[in-house]
Amino acid sequence: MDLYEYQARDVFEKYGVPVLAGIVADTPEEVKAAAEKLGGVVVVKAQVKTGGRGKAGGVKVAKNPDEAYEAAKAIFGLDIKGHIVKRVMVAAGARIAEEFYFSVLLDRANRSYLSLCSVEGGMEIEELAVERPEALARIEVDPLTGIDKAKAVEIARAAKFPEDLVEKVSDVFVKLYDVYKGEDATLVEVNPLVRTEDGDIIALDGKVTLDENASEIRHPEHEELEDKGAADPLEAKAKESGLNYVKLDGQVGIIGNGAGLVMSTLDVVAYAGENHGGVKPANFLDIGGGASASVMAAGLDVILGDPQVKSVFVNVFGGITACDAVANGIKGALETLGDTASKPLVVRLDGNAVEEGRAILAEYAHPLVTLAATMDEGADKAAELANA
Ligand SMILES: Nc1ncnc2c1ncn2[C@@H]1O[C@H](COP(=O)(O)OP(=O)(O)O)[C@@H](O)[C@H]1O
Ligand SMILES: [Mg+2]
Repeated sequence: MDLYEYQARDVFEKYGVPVLAGIVADTPEEVKAAAEKLGGVVVVKAQVKTGGRGKAGGVKVAKNPDEAYEAAKAIFGLDIKGHIVKRVMVAAGARIAEEFYFSVLLDRANRSYLSLCSVEGGMEIEELAVERPEALARIEVDPLTGIDKAKAVEIARAAKFPEDLVEKVSDVFVKLYDVYKGEDATLVEVNPLVRTEDGDIIALDGKVTLDENASEIRHPEHEELEDKGAADPLEAKAKESGLNYVKLDGQVGIIGNGAGLVMSTLDVVAYAGENHGGVKPANFLDIGGGASASVMAAGLDVILGDPQVKSVFVNVFGGITACDAVANGIKGALETLGDTASKPLVVRLDGNAVEEGRAILAEYAHPLVTLAATMDEGADKAAELANA
C-alpha cells in the first residue's frame, strides 16, 4: 500500500526525520485557513499517489493566504496522470539551497535491501538513472544490519555529498531506515531531501510503500492509512471477502485457483477473444487452494457485480481440493446467488477427481453452465458468449 505524501510526512515526524509543518485541506477555504495558521510562504501540494506533481501543476508556492486560496482553486480537480486531486497539503515553504535524493527499498532480485542516493535530487529519478547512471549511487543494504551510522556515511560518500554535509545527512538516512524497518515498508523515498539556506536538512517530499503482508498482525494501525474511498468498489468488496482480485478492462470474468493458472487463463482468454470481437479478460481472481462453495460464491458475486462482464470462465485444476468439491462449490454458489447469477458460466475442471466433478455439474444441468473439456475450449466458449 502506498501512502499519500501527508501520511508519509506524519510517519517521518514520528521517527524524528526532519520535516516541515503540513496541514491537509479539502477545500480552498480550508487551504486559506491553513495558510493563515502556518503564516509566511506556503506550498499547496496535490495529494495524489503518483509522482511528477510539480511538473503537472500540482505544487504551487503561495506568498499569503489569498494566493494559497487561488492556488488551491487551480489544484483541486486537476487530473495528474489519471488521479483527480481531492485533497491537498498546505506545507510550510522551505528556502531551498540544494535538492538531493534518497531511498531504501526491497531489492527482490537480490533478496536484499538497496539504497539509492544522489546529490542531484528533485527531478524524476527514473530519468537520472537512465541518462546519468553514474550520478545515482546504488548501495546494497544487508537486512540483518540495516543502515546504521557507518552504513549511512558510506551511502552519503558514495553519492558524493560534500564532506561537511555527510554527518548531517547520514543522521537523516539512519532515521529513514528506522521508518523503513519500523513500519515494515518496502520503499521509503525522499525526493527532494533538501538543504535549506539556513543549512538544515529536511525531507520535503516522501513516498512510503508499506508491506501489506505485515499489516494485519504486525501493524493493525496501518488500516487507518488505507484510503477506502479511492479503492475500486469491486476490489474493496473482494478484499473484504479475502479474495485476491484485480479489476481489468474486459468482458470475460475469470475465476481460477492458483496465481499461475489464473495468469495463463488471462492470456488464453485474451488470445481466444481475438476471434470473438476482441473481448478481453475482465479481472484477475485467484480463489486459492480451497475452492469451497462460500469462496466460489464470494468470487462469483464480485465478478457478476461488474457490469462490464458478459460471461464467466471458471478454470480450476483440482489438487488438494478435488474437482468434486469444486463442482459442489459451484453448485452451492449458484444456489446461494439465485437470480443474481445471470450470466453464462463456462467451467473447465481438470485434475484430482475430475470425472466426479464433471458428473456433478452435468447432472445439475444448470441452464447457465457450460462444461468445457480443455482450457482452450473453455476460453473460446467464454469469449464467444461474451461477444454474443
Ligand atoms: N514545502 C516546500 N517548500 C518549498 N519548495 C517545495 C516544497 N515542497 C516541494 N517543493 C518544490 O516543489 C518540487 C516538487 O515537489 P514534490 O513534493 O517533490 O512533488 P513531485 O515529486 O510529485 O513533483 C520540489 O522538488 C521542490 O523544489
Ligand atoms: Mg518529489
